[in-house]
Amino acid sequence: MPKDAESAGREITVTPQPTGFGAEITGVDLSRPLEPMVLAEIKAAWARHGVVVFPDQPLTLEQLEAFTLQFGPFGHDPYVKPMEGHPNVLEVRREPDEKVTPFGGNWHSDWSFQAQPPAATILRSEIIPPVGGDTLYCDAASAYEALPDATKAKLAALRAIHSASKAYGPDSAYSRELHLRAMPIIVSPEADKTYVHPLVRTHPVTGRKALFISPVYTVGIEGMAPNAADPLLAELYKHLVQDQFIYRHRWRPGMVVIWDNRCTMHNALGGYDGHRRVMHRTTVAGEAPI
Ligand code: OGA
Ligand code: MN
Repeated sequence: MPKDAESAGREITVTPQPTGFGAEITGVDLSRPLEPMVLAEIKAAWARHGVVVFPDQPLTLEQLEAFTLQFGPFGHDPYVKPMEGHPNVLEVRREPDEKVTPFGGNWHSDWSFQAQPPAATILRSEIIPPVGGDTLYCDAASAYEALPDATKAKLAALRAIHSASKAYGPDSAYSRELHLRAMPIIVSPEADKTYVHPLVRTHPVTGRKALFISPVYTVGIEGMAPNAADPLLAELYKHLVQDQFIYRHRWRPGMVVIWDNRCTMHNALGGYDGHRRVMHRTTVAGEAPI
């Protein structure tokens, strides 16, 4: 085997976080098509660690699109206008004079109100403020596993109701703040539609179960009155966001992060008023949760 080909597959290094949730990958160039073995290793790390960080990968938008397509077809992004000439790339942008909550600034799993929510989201950092702007990730599989057996039994048959209404509906927070944001958010009555998914979903690759709910997109539990569902959901959210289930990601420019929406939630933190933050974002289509 030529030396280059031999070493190409060997340089890749996966360094998990101490908890096993989140990992960093170095020794690979994401701007070029990936060798099948390398792609397989990245996919395995993504499934195993939930959030995978690639430092120093200043991809162009075309390279970000090509990297994304190696994981599957693009997902459908309904409530943010895509970038000109790049129908599958969103720009996540906050300007120095913005005072509103950052885009994604509360716990959620991307587009969980869809029939087939995206399996992955990929974010590439362009401009990172000198302070703040971290992203928190929560390990919803480990959180599920840590629940008492009685709680797991109680949750097994439940189905959660998801909707984009709180974020993108005509009465949503974003709808009142459109003029205060740089991002082209689309508010629509479509957002008030609801979709039901199992409250505990099983990961199609790892077989691990995870809580599949979030304070942004879960609006209730099927067949349960709000005065019973709301306290149960609140208790589960409190359980999910405990320190031992969190990976806090600190960005530098030119990083690529891919996360698994099927077993994680995330939350974009602020703390950088007066500074600009710009990211580019794609999603990979997923399957109906089971
Ligand atoms: C997103 C999102 C987090 C961030 O793009 O879906 O939630 O830190 N972004 O920008
Ligand atoms: Mn998000």
